[in-house]
Amino acid sequence: MIFQFEILFEILIIQVLINFFLLSFIPALTLAFFIINWDDRSQLLQNRKYLYLSVSLLSSLIAFFFPNSIIIAIILSAVFSFVIKFIFYRRIPLGKIRELNVLEPGKVLLEIKDLKVYYPLLGGILKREIGAVKAVDGVDLKIKTGETLGLVGESGCGKTTLANAILGLVEVDGGEIFFNNKKIDKYNSNLRQKIQIVFQDPDASLNPRLKVVDIISEPLINLLGINKKTELRKQVLRLLEEVSLKREHLDRYPHEFSGGQKQRIVIARALACNPELIILDEPTSALDVSVQAQILNLLRKLQKSHGYGFLFITHNLSVVNHIADQVAVMYLGRIVEIGSKKQIFTRPTHPYTQALLKSRIRVDPNSQDIKFVIDGEVPSPINPPSGCHFNPRCISDVRTKQCELKIPHKIKIEDNHYIWCINEPKDLNY
Ligand SMILES: Nc1ncnc2c1ncn2[C@@H]1O[C@H](COP(=O)(O)OP(=O)(O)O)[C@@H](O)[C@H]1O
Ligand code: SF4
Ligand SMILES: [Mg+2]
Repeated sequence: MIFQFEILFEILIIQVLINFFLLSFIPALTLAFFIINWDDRSQLLQNRKYLYLSVSLLSSLIAFFFPNSIIIAIILSAVFSFVIKFIFYRRIPLGKIRELNVLEPGKVLLEIKDLKVYYPLLGGILKREIGAVKAVDGVDLKIKTGETLGLVGESGCGKTTLANAILGLVEVDGGEIFFNNKKIDKYNSNLRQKIQIVFQDPDASLNPRLKVVDIISEPLINLLGINKKTELRKQVLRLLEEVSLKREHLDRYPHEFSGGQKQRIVIARALACNPELIILDEPTSALDVSVQAQILNLLRKLQKSHGYGFLFITHNLSVVNHIADQVAVMYLGRIVEIGSKKQIFTRPTHPYTQALLKSRIRVDPNSQDIKFVIDGEVPSPINPPSGCHFNPRCISDVRTKQCELKIPHKIKIEDNHYIWCINEPKDLNY
């Protein structure tokens, strides 16, 4: 009899322990998850259902400890869920996250220091690494909120690779990237939300089988955790209106739109993530000139009202002149000159920038796409010229033998205006 009682007692204890473990395990796990991801707002939002599950499990745990006093358990669990929800909503005010950001102007959003991206070059039967394409080779840049940095350079100079590096889409071989003054070590969903990209070809970015409402809903569901269909339609309509599209466009497929309208849809999808930095990689190159101007004006309007920082990549100097505040000129993986739009267009100092601007004047004014016409071919980035990469094409008076041997250094021309050259420029009367 005593023996049976002992077994029953042991079983009861084990059951109590198992129940206690199960009831506290999920809340403890959720708590750990929320603490780890405290900075990643979209992760918290997406997983808020686990928070609610934990609250109910914790309530059961309280009821478990107060089996004879169910009223105390109910009161305690209500207080507990109220406190947790209060903390959660203070951290993530849902109403607020659905409104588009209005960013404080002039804050440094992105800073890049000595960034290097080398693509391995494979050769031989064994596909061994025999060299590297130095697509980005020691780039420094800074972008502030409310500001557009125009990145200009000939095709193949590394502009898209630089964009991909900022987005974490290619492996970086050196240097550092800071976003909102924090060094990027790993790309979490918070960063993927804050940094958006718009590519040249809207067709490649839009799924032809999805309606516009579903295309723009995707980031709202995945990054912001909005699930209700009516709420999604409301948010998508609001975003379409931001890019001057209408309610009747909600249920259409991408092929029913013109090129310019498709690019507006891509922009609306980027805005859906409530970004801070938008990288625009030749976003108007595939569009007619009149449509190009409309898209550029739309981007300026959005930037003015929300304070986004733009990295605007293009090979077209007229577009840079239209949209940029700051301009960086890139040649074979390196920045050669940087300054305000006025400084670059009225006082170009690096021999390459001067050649680019002269080449622009020579182009037929009726031409839709203004191409660079500089003497000499762009050398291959696989085996670029030693020293200054521009040396075989440089016709500057200050060019010396040293240009073939030394790597150019940064030279201050005036406030906010720098070039990378071996020699000081002559006759500066700025
Ligand atoms: N995935 C890749 N693998 C190897 N080389 C690449 C790759 N992507 C680009 N490149 C090379 O890197 C250089 C820079 O390319 P890219 O960044 O696309 O220049 P841009 O956008 O200025 O035209 C080019 O020489 C290109 O051929
Ligand atoms: S370093 Fe020499 S070759 Fe290069 S841009 Fe300056 S002057 Fe020309
Ligand atoms: Mg490109």
